[in-house]
Parts: sequence; structure tokens; C-alpha cells
Amino acid sequence: MSDDLILAGKNASRKEKYELLLPQLVALVENEEDLIANVSNIIAALKETLDVLWIGIYFVKNNTLVLGPFQGPVACTRIAKGRGVCGTVWAEKRPLIVPDVELFPGHIACNSSSKSEIVLPGFKDGDVSFVIDLDSSLLNDFDSIDQEYLLKVVALIEKMI
Ligand code: SME
Repeated sequence: MSDDLILAGKNASRKEKYELLLPQLVALVENEEDLIANVSNIIAALKETLDVLWIGIYFVKNNTLVLGPFQGPVACTRIAKGRGVCGTVWAEKRPLIVPDVELFPGHIACNSSSKSEIVLPGFKDGDVSFVIDLDSSLLNDFDSIDQEYLLKVVALIEKMI
């Protein structure tokens, strides 16, 4: 059996891309119980689908965000609570869309090509347990559609934690 994703055409909207991808993500993880295996495939599938510079997950471990599976250039391994976009999302327990990272006080520039960013928190027992981070080399590349669909991806991962 081929594991190839069915991808929307290059000119499809982000919404169309997410709509096609989401059921495939559910199918991708339904027969596997290992968290890292599943998250790795989810991140890879998102990278194949969306034209972004970097996508990855940071897990809260010993009161620090620690880098997990990602696709893209090498990245910072640890981020403290309240630091950068990821640490702010953790502290404020809400998604953040940053249209221009240079205008975000304390943004952590893991990669100089990153121009805009979206970060979403995932929860376990009411506490942030991970954040998902997407970086784009384009300014203003993320909007409420990304937030809406990426929250569904977050919910899928929350069910496995
Ligand atoms: N820019 C993030 C750091 C993580 S990297 O972009 C992969 C931040 O400010 O938290």
C-alpha cells in the first residue's frame, strides 16, 4: 500500500489544502499508538501540504519547551516560558498569529528567513502540554483559516497525549 498523501493542486487555497489533508491525518495515526511516530508524520504531512519554511512541535518538559519532531532548518532546542512567540503562547494559553516577526518584542529568530509565524497551544488537564509552530518566509502568511484548521490538528494530537 502506498503511503503517499493526496495533495491539493498548487493553486488550491489553504482552506482546500487543509480540507483534503485533515481526514488523511486522522487515517495516518489511527492504527499507531506511538506519540512521536504519529506527531512526526503529522508534521511531515503538514510540511508537504503547506508551503512553509518550518513547522514543528515543542513539548513542555520540566517547565521548558523542548523541541520535538519538525521539518525545516535546524531550530532552537529549548524555549523558556514567556520567551519568544512560543513561550508567550505557552504563558498566555492562546494561539498567536504574528504577521511580521520583527515587530514582535522578544521574537526568537531561529532562522533569519522567517518573516511571519503562527503558534498554537495544546492542552492536557488544563495545562499547556505542547505548542505547534509554523514559520513562513513571507510576511503576513497566516490568518484565521490557518488557526481554525491547525486547532483541529492540535485536537488530534491532544487525543494521543
Ligand atoms: N520563533 C519562535 C522560536 C521557534 S522557531 O521559529 C522554530 C519564537 O519566537 O518563539
